[in-house]
Amino acid sequence: MKPGRILLSQARIQARVRELGKILAHHYHGKRPLVLGVMNGALFFLGDLLRTPDLETEISCVRLASYAGTRSSTLRGLDALGSDFAGRHVLIVDDILDTGRTLSALVRRLKQLDAADVKICVLLEKRRRRETAVKADWTGFKIADEFVVGYGLDYNGLYRNLRQVRVLRQG
Ligand code: IMP
Ligand code: MG
Repeated sequence: MKPGRILLSQARIQARVRELGKILAHHYHGKRPLVLGVMNGALFFLGDLLRTPDLETEISCVRLASYAGTRSSTLRGLDALGSDFAGRHVLIVDDILDTGRTLSALVRRLKQLDAADVKICVLLEKRRRRETAVKADWTGFKIADEFVVGYGLDYNGLYRNLRQVRVLRQG
């Protein structure tokens, strides 16, 4: 499997990320949110988004992994979240919303930890969504149900560092 057709060019991604950054800076004006990046997928999106002028935030990261290929909603990593979320406005930043299992478990946990408010910003959202009711508050791009790599998204650990988002293809 290799990166194929370019779905989102570097220029399109950068333009949209700038736009989202401005929207977030406006929304969170005066609130100083805690931005929680979901590693490793959110690496570049988070970095670019946070460079928006006037977006005053604290930054934290969590490393989550779901057990691929099972119907379990068990996630590894939630326990390492720590406990300093009480009363905070939390903005989760992730690469992609697919089944929503990862993010619904994370939102539930943050509410248990008494976060005042939890919102979600994702770079990508697959149009044909399944399984959970979790919704993103801000989405960069809605895409078809294809496996994509680049700009943080990987296939077996590879291709995260591509500057575009590409569709994975055979070969
Ligand atoms: P969910 O729990 O099914 O929403 O899974 C979300 C996670 O699965 C994302 O954070 C990604 O790490 C991974 N994922 C889902 N779709 C893709 C894709 O098309 N390319 C790369 N990773 C993906
Ligand atoms: Mg992820």
